[in-house]
Amino acid sequence: MENLKNSYKKRSLSKIESLRDRDDYLILAIETSCDETAVSINQGRNILSSVVFSQIEIHKEYGGVVPEIASRNHVEAIDNVLNQALIEANVKLEDIDLIAVTKGAGLLGALLVGLCYGKALAYALDIPFIGVNHIKGHLAANFIKYPNLDYPFICLIASGGHTEIMKVESFSNAEILGETVDDAVGEAFDKVARVLGLSYPGGPAIDNLAKEGKNTYSFTRPFKGKGHLNFSYSGIKTRVINIAHHAKQKGESIRPADLARSFQDEAIGFLVDNTLLAAKQNNIKKIVIAGGVAANSYLRSEFLRVCIEENIELYIPPVNLCTDNAAMIGVAAYEQIKEGAISDDLSLDANPSL
Ligand code: KG4
Ligand code: ZN
Repeated sequence: MENLKNSYKKRSLSKIESLRDRDDYLILAIETSCDETAVSINQGRNILSSVVFSQIEIHKEYGGVVPEIASRNHVEAIDNVLNQALIEANVKLEDIDLIAVTKGAGLLGALLVGLCYGKALAYALDIPFIGVNHIKGHLAANFIKYPNLDYPFICLIASGGHTEIMKVESFSNAEILGETVDDAVGEAFDKVARVLGLSYPGGPAIDNLAKEGKNTYSFTRPFKGKGHLNFSYSGIKTRVINIAHHAKQKGESIRPADLARSFQDEAIGFLVDNTLLAAKQNNIKKIVIAGGVAANSYLRSEFLRVCIEENIELYIPPVNLCTDNAAMIGVAAYEQIKEGAISDDLSLDANPSL
């Protein structure tokens, strides 16, 4: 067995070398880090198919993602999602040159489904496979919409697990300038939505409700005037919880739409202000946004407004590429290989906190 693995590894390494300078080879990508079972096929930055089976309806009744249920549903769905991706791209499994799989961050069991499936496919087809960092995937979503996007730029990653600002010099060279010291912004949206009695996932629910509300509740901005680029969302979330509890204790009612609007204005305003400051501090007039929260309608309009005002180029993927999908993982693999990444070993493990 060891011999077989070693010879597979050798062949993979040399196959990756033969792909490195090309952009016409076929990548099949798999993403199963949370509650979306996704498979796509891409050639460089060009997407031939991208199929996403969302488990939202399954997890809705529990008010959030149940890890064990997510893993089982990935196992059940992945064959069909893969077949659909092949049909839509009009390619055969034997035509695929490389398998790309999300290796982390995410839910361990969920990640393992995609990773084991991807490794088995790669080994059976005798083609290389490569593990992709989910966050790098979110960043890569921008290259799908903007194939001519070039470096350097300031990137904001805003998702359910991450909130960070990076200075990106190349795909493999990114410096973190600021990040959350506690909750991620998407996590705050999800928790606040629960307090307001909205259904899972909370981000889109708050986005919709806020459209009917006014900004009438005030918040204190964490780290105000400190000049650094970190975030904190735990206090903002607690403020919403306290407003709701105090009203309940006094027998008063809250105005959910106003509270949703006030929270959203503050949560998104924090992202916009820090990202703008990062661009100014680094003298870079290009901002790239990624992650599920980038689907937020107020975030999109606010960034557009300030970037026009400040004469900064703004790059933001279409809504369907902001939330989890496999196409972004395939493009991330392409970018990594172009910059010298080698194939991964069959012993590669999932890393939930990558
Ligand atoms: O990137 P993503 O799909 O998964 C992670 O990698 O975490 O992000 C999911 C997060 C969730 O917290 C969800 O509530 C949030 O993105 N989200 C939104 C919106 N759509 C999704 N947050 C605010 N407004 C939205 N429209
Ligand atoms: Zn994500």
